[in-house]
This record gives sequence, structure tokens and C-alpha cells, in this order.
Amino acid sequence: MIPVVKTIDEIRKYVKEWRGAGMSVGLVPTMGYLHEGHKSLIDRAVRENDRVVVSDFVNPTQFGPNEDLEAYPRDIERDAALCESAGAAVIFNPEPDEMYDNALTTVSVDKITKVLCGKTRPTHFAGVCTVVSKLFNIVKPDRAYFGQKDAQQLCVVRKMVKDLNFDIEIVGCPIVREEDGLAKSSRNTYLSAEERKAALCLSRSLKLGRELIAGGQDSAAAVKDAVRKEIEKEPLARVDYVEAVNADTLEEAEKTDAPLLVAVAVYIGKTRLIDNFIIE
Ligand code: PAJ
Repeated sequence: MIPVVKTIDEIRKYVKEWRGAGMSVGLVPTMGYLHEGHKSLIDRAVRENDRVVVSDFVNPTQFGPNEDLEAYPRDIERDAALCESAGAAVIFNPEPDEMYDNALTTVSVDKITKVLCGKTRPTHFAGVCTVVSKLFNIVKPDRAYFGQKDAQQLCVVRKMVKDLNFDIEIVGCPIVREEDGLAKSSRNTYLSAEERKAALCLSRSLKLGRELIAGGQDSAAAVKDAVRKEIEKEPLARVDYVEAVNADTLEEAEKTDAPLLVAVAVYIGKTRLIDNFIIE
């Protein structure tokens, strides 16, 4: 069975040994409860590196006071089986005390963390950047894999890596969806059967937005408006945001020219879901 490592010292021993043998190392940071979306990152990492570390850590510092830290789903045994079948070498699954031993240091990226999800989750990205920096320093991978599903997170991590000169290649991977279009997410497990149907309004509205742009709509406001209206047709949905921004700078877009990120965050009942598409 794949080793599930709980301490920083032990994971460092694994990596040191691989490095000594001249092997390359890939890292897939996750909060566990793994699904096909995570698996697509692990598969790619396994193809591109000699050894792959999957971190499986529900990071408390990226949850706000009224968010779902306690309720967040966990199943390390199932995760271990998935990682093993995908060909990962080891899982790093520390307890919060191992990661945050009286820590006083945080990493935060300015400006691009204040828009989109940052508006309603003001401390979220500092939590993400801090834990991702720590994972980078602990594992020292050659490459780290992130999903386009969390488009702002990917953008923020890229900026952090550039600004802080981490010698790590960041690999962005496409969104994996359910057959009916819903983007895979650990949080989908919160949805009742009725909410699960309602949640299709995210992917449906984005498909409409994409079609409008393909059909020649060049006004970002018109696209946002159509996407929002499509979501608002769904009685169980409440829009947090619908935004069209420059995919690199996350600045508001007026036109729909590439690089464009159209992103939505929507409450379905109590569950907040996100989805997006990019025009490159
Ligand atoms: P988590 O939500 O577990 O996601 C781990 C990685 O899987 C992220 O890079 C995310 O974008 C990717 N992912 C999730 N669903 C996906 C999907 N449907 N298709 C493709 N990729 C998908 O994101 C986090 O954890 C945390 O913030 C973390 C980076 C681990 C820091 O704690």
C-alpha cells in the first residue's frame, strides 16, 4: 500500500533519497476527498515526473470563520487507494499542528486576491499561498500541478512563484466535469438530489456565455448579463458573482478578447460552487 506520511521530516527523507538517485519530483497539492479532477492532475504528474507526492491536507487557514472547515469531507483510505492506482509514490497527510507549529509567518499576494472569490473570502488566498509555499519548501518539487477549476488560485500561485522566485514549474490542468457538465468538486457531496440538478445552471450559463462569444459578442458586459440571467432562472441558485476579467491580470474586461476568464460563484442552497471558462 502507498505510504501515508504524517511528518515533514519523513516526507523530506523520501524526497532526499529520490533526489540522490537523480529522479524528478512532482507535487499535487490537494485537500483530499479525491475525485476524477484530482486524479487528472495526479495522472499528468505521474507521466511527467519520476516520483509524485500528493499532499492531502484540509488547510484550516484558507477557511473563513463561517465556512465549512469542520464539515469538509475526509476519507484518507479512499484517497490512498486512488493515489496508489494512479501511480503516486507517497501521500503527505499532516495534522494541522505539524504544519502550523505556532507559526507567525504568512504569504500573501496583493491585488489579484481582492477580486472574484477574494471579495467574499478576504483571507482565503493568504491561507492558500502560505500552505502552498510551505508545501513547496517541504517537498521542493520540480513541478506542481493545479486545476483550472480554481482559475484564480492558479493565477495567484503563478504570480507568487514568479514574485518569490520559487524554482518550480506550475502546470495548469483543464477542468474535469461530470457527464452532465457539472465541474467535479469535493463540495458536490453537500448537494441534495434536487440541488444537484439545480447546480447544472453553472455549466449551462457558462456554455451560453461561450457560445455568445463564439457567435461574435464582443461586449464583456453583455456576456456577463446573459450568464447571470441564465443562472437566475434557477430558483435554488443565488449568484455570488459573475465576472469577465483579463485571464492574466484579473482586471475587469470590457471586451471579450483573449486572454479572457469568465468566472462564476453561485450558492446552491448553502453550498457555494465555482466554475469558469477561459478564452486563450
Ligand atoms: P482542492 O480543492 O482539493 O483541489 C486540489 C487541486 O485539484 C486544485 O488545483 C484544484 O484546482 C484541482 N481540481 C479540483 N477540482 C477539479 C476539477 N473538476 N478539474 C480539474 N482540477 C480540479 O485547491 C485546493 O484543494 C487547495 O486550495 C490547495 C491548493 C490544496 C491548498 O490547500
